Amino acid sequence: MSEATASATEYASVVRERHSVRQYDPNATISESELKEILSEASLAPSSSNTQSWRFLVFHDKELQQKLLPIANNQQQIVDSSAVVAVLADREGFKRLGQINDIAVEKGIMPREFADQFTERSIAMYGSLSKEKQTQIALVDGGLVSMQIMLSAKARGYDTVPMGGFDAARLVEEFGIPETLVPVMLIAVGKGAAPGRATARLPLEEITFWNGQGLK
Ligand SMILES: Cc1cc2nc3c(=O)[nH]c(=O)nc-3n(C[C@H](O)[C@H](O)[C@H](O)COP(=O)(O)O)c2cc1C
Repeated sequence: MSEATASATEYASVVRERHSVRQYDPNATISESELKEILSEASLAPSSSNTQSWRFLVFHDKELQQKLLPIANNQQQIVDSSAVVAVLADREGFKRLGQINDIAVEKGIMPREFADQFTERSIAMYGSLSKEKQTQIALVDGGLVSMQIMLSAKARGYDTVPMGGFDAARLVEEFGIPETLVPVMLIAVGKGAAPGRATARLPLEEITFWNGQGLK
């Protein structure tokens, strides 16, 4: 098997074996360094103009997870998993483009002049958008990073479940989340105590339209 085929096979098994797991071993733990590895690998996700407008609020403490429980519809995985990541979308994330592009210059991957022009133009463009549009862009990026968190966790032997079933206003209030950070989803990470159930998918023909054919 060629190297490319082997890595495609490994990737496919991570993707195919990830299922939303809702029952966790409450005694299992995940180290802070493993969580950091997962989050930093996930942060390699693409984002609009590389703004990386995702922020992570990590609950790695059973007492805090307990506090989160009623906010997340008492979903048991909140307390039984080893950690919960609240993925937040920073609708003003574009304001850090100067910092991001400076890092690229320091690494020698972007010329200084280009970085400065790109930063100035991008900040002006994102700044001219409505709050709703800024939020929408940051939410898309938040979805991409969330998927990568789940796959990076799975590749390291951890199970996950994404959760939209929570009270976003209460989450913001309870944990002092600034108004510019919009909750995307919660992701429980831990060791499954029971396998996630298999789920069905629509046939590809029903979700794919080749060259514009069949769209109604
Ligand atoms: C945005 C989003 C919100 C979700 N919210 C919840 C939730 O609150 N609780 C839950 O148990 N599962 C939740 N799920 C998991 C879905 O039910 C699950 O992904 C779907 O049934 C497909 O199953 P699979 O993840 O095992 O492939 C959510 C998934 C997504 C993407």
